[in-house]
Amino acid sequence: MHASTLDLIGGTPLVALDRAHDGPGRIVAKAEFLQPGGSVKDRAARAIVLAARADGRLRPGMPVVEMTSGNMGAGLAVVCAALGHPFIAAMSAGNSPARARMMEGLGAKVVLVAQVDGSPGQVTGADVAAAAEEAVRIAQDEGGFYVDQFNAAEGITAHQRTTGAEILRQYGGPVDGWVAAVGTGCTFLGVARALKAANPATVCAAVEPLGCEPLAGKPVTKARHIVQGTGYGLVPPHWDPSLMDLSLAVSDAEVEQWRRRLAVREGLYVGYSAAANVCAASRLLGSGRLGPGATVATVLCDTGLKY
Ligand SMILES: Cc1ncc(COP(=O)(O)O)c(C=O)c1O
Repeated sequence: MHASTLDLIGGTPLVALDRAHDGPGRIVAKAEFLQPGGSVKDRAARAIVLAARADGRLRPGMPVVEMTSGNMGAGLAVVCAALGHPFIAAMSAGNSPARARMMEGLGAKVVLVAQVDGSPGQVTGADVAAAAEEAVRIAQDEGGFYVDQFNAAEGITAHQRTTGAEILRQYGGPVDGWVAAVGTGCTFLGVARALKAANPATVCAAVEPLGCEPLAGKPVTKARHIVQGTGYGLVPPHWDPSLMDLSLAVSDAEVEQWRRRLAVREGLYVGYSAAANVCAASRLLGSGRLGPGATVATVLCDTGLKY
């Protein structure tokens, strides 16, 4: 038996995607959509809040405030409910309304922030910056703890110690490749650290929306894309280029195609970044860079029910 919802975070199953990708090699994916908040972000939410409680930045009953594309907010809403903190989320109005409903259902207050240059379903870096400004203002006004997921190192160590370690344990040893789309970069960086520590030859690829590839060192020509929660057109503050071997760009059309493929071939109804990850993993295996019997690990970041 688990003592609380906090203990339901992490420990997601690793599933082989042999029907969506029938070779060469194999894709294995962490089913992050099974977490209480419905996404990979539950791990960072728990880690950052528990660290702040442990060192006194967050005292019992104090409000927690964060800018979110919805998934970090859902994770924080779960964690705050379990620990008895009020939670206030500032979210760009361009993110899916289903996410706001989920946060509100969990007892959070959601403040929607008007988009700067994006459109509904397509959230840009400028939209996110506007939501972050609002979150900082709310935290000041309410005397709350500002989570600041882009600058909180606990998110990276959480993925290193949990997601990365779980992949190694569940797969039964090192994998040949790792791919993940990048929002804060916590998932990509933390897991890359763990996998490269186990096998320095593991090829780690960041996934970027086509035309929005700052990690590849390219100017952003297309800030709008459908891969919500990732691809903000900026290099995240904690980015460690030594952990990225290459960047793989995916188009909106490919992401739509792979989202459908995962649904009808695997029975996995997941979100856009999950589809982007699997699309990129398949391309990496198809490139021949890893050899015919290679295994690439990735994450199915969230459920498709949030869109
Ligand atoms: C749907 C989705 N996929 C991927 C990510 C990226 O995760 P990270 O912030 O760890 O880079 C996020 C982040 O919010 C997300 O919401």
